[in-house]
Amino acid sequence: MRHTGDLRRRTPTVADRALSDRPFLQACRREPSAYTPVWLMRQAGRYLPEYRRIRERFSFLDLCRDSATAAEVTVGAVATLGVDAAIVFADILLPLVDSGLTYENGDGPRIARPVRRIEDIESLKGLNVEDALGFVAKTILLTRRELGKTVPVIGFAGAPFTVAAYAVEGGASRNYVATKSLMYNEPVIWHELMESVVRITIDYLNMQIDAGADAVQLFDSWVGALSPEDYRKYVQPYSAKVIESLRSGTPVIHFGTMSGSLLTDMREAGGDVIGLDWRVNLDEAWARLGTDVAVQGNLDPTLLFSDRRTIRQAVTATLRRAAGRPGHIFNLGHGILPQTPLDNVRALVDAVHEMSTAGC
Ligand code: CP3
Repeated sequence: MRHTGDLRRRTPTVADRALSDRPFLQACRREPSAYTPVWLMRQAGRYLPEYRRIRERFSFLDLCRDSATAAEVTVGAVATLGVDAAIVFADILLPLVDSGLTYENGDGPRIARPVRRIEDIESLKGLNVEDALGFVAKTILLTRRELGKTVPVIGFAGAPFTVAAYAVEGGASRNYVATKSLMYNEPVIWHELMESVVRITIDYLNMQIDAGADAVQLFDSWVGALSPEDYRKYVQPYSAKVIESLRSGTPVIHFGTMSGSLLTDMREAGGDVIGLDWRVNLDEAWARLGTDVAVQGNLDPTLLFSDRRTIRQAVTATLRRAAGRPGHIFNLGHGILPQTPLDNVRALVDAVHEMSTAGC
């Protein structure tokens, strides 16, 4: 399935080549870099005073739709932290707008019309990504313009399982009973649902790549709810289809949480970089994955509630596990939590740069 939008891919210039030599993109390709690149999932969020100020004027969804302000949020976070990559300000659940998506403060996302029957899939089937989500492409264009050719911009989407499970559950879930019931008992509906989400995700990510995303990340945040056997049977082929249908040449980061027992299956589904959560040791996970793939991670986000010294020790420990091997992108094992002290986030980024340059 190829994306046929009217956003054209630009011809590479000298500046594009300079961008492709930034440490983050070098690490995606497993090339040596001057230091270990670092960015943080949810680096633009409520822990930032500037973000909280902007949120006084916009609801979360309106902020996503206001591309100029959304770009400002991303660029502000990059400037505040000195990270090596920007991530577009958007959300993995935006493709569910037509299913009645809302975000109440602190309450997490809710889907007013969850998908439970075959008819419920119609609105997903009919979704035109450029019409419904074109503002994300615009945000990427503006973010890229603001940042110039110095900081790579990451586009992203939810992986099919996580988006489908949100669509079915209608919000957060403990045991995913509705999702798994559908998966086990209604194979036709499950297949239709996953195929619809796959189509949307391919269009959505290719639109972001066309708009200038230098890499894309697929978030399978809920994948850890699955046994390896169920992952292979009900999920892996769909994730693989998304990854293989993306424009070639753009690195793909494939991330999951509670995914320790699924890493080799996720790697088989695809991705140039595998995102690790903090429940695995980076060196052991990398050995299992094989050295022909890059890794991203994997500090526990809660470590940022400790002190500078503890953070620096944890950074050293992670860098030691990566052992200076090309292809390590430093990150947390999941997103920054809203109450995280900003100074500690800065200390983390500085520590990664300093200690990886010193050659830990
Ligand atoms: O810096 C960035 O990473 C910004 C872009 C970004 C957001 N969400 C903005 C956001 C990204 C990459 C995401 C991914 C995302 N969204 C995931 C995958 C990562 C993960 O955490 O597993 C998931 C599962 C979602 C769904 C989602 N969106 C939830 C569960 C919530 C509520 C949780 C919370 O923190 O309140 C959101 C809202 C959301 N997405 C916020 C932000 C900045 C908070 C909105 C606000 O209150 O201002």
